[in-house]
Amino acid sequence: MTHAASLDYWGTERQGPDLAHVADRTYGATKEWQLVHVKDPRLLSFGSFMPSYAHLPGDHLEALAAYLLTLK
Ligand code: HEM
Repeated sequence: MTHAASLDYWGTERQGPDLAHVADRTYGATKEWQLVHVKDPRLLSFGSFMPSYAHLPGDHLEALAAYLLTLK
């Protein structure tokens, strides 16, 4: 392996699941689930290392949840 190939570049390695069709998951199909999950992933997914996005303003969280629900 070359030196360059051994480095970890941000954005080059998947850290979480593919979010395509995420709104089709039985549990993820509601705005409430998406809002709770992005604010506190560990509340819904025990042991998850996904960071909390609770610091985002409420309207940003609403927009994020609305976007996630379009991924069918
Ligand atoms: C705004 C940014 C993010 C959004 C909107 C987001 C959204 C989501 C959603 C909707 C799921 C559930 C997927 C499913 O059940 O199939 C999920 C899961 C997950 N995400 Fe994220 N994610 C974000 C950032 C991140 C980051 C930065 C990481 C890692 C550093 C991460 C790691 C994970 C992991 C490990 C899971 C599986 C465990 C769980 O459901 O909590 N996510 N994410």
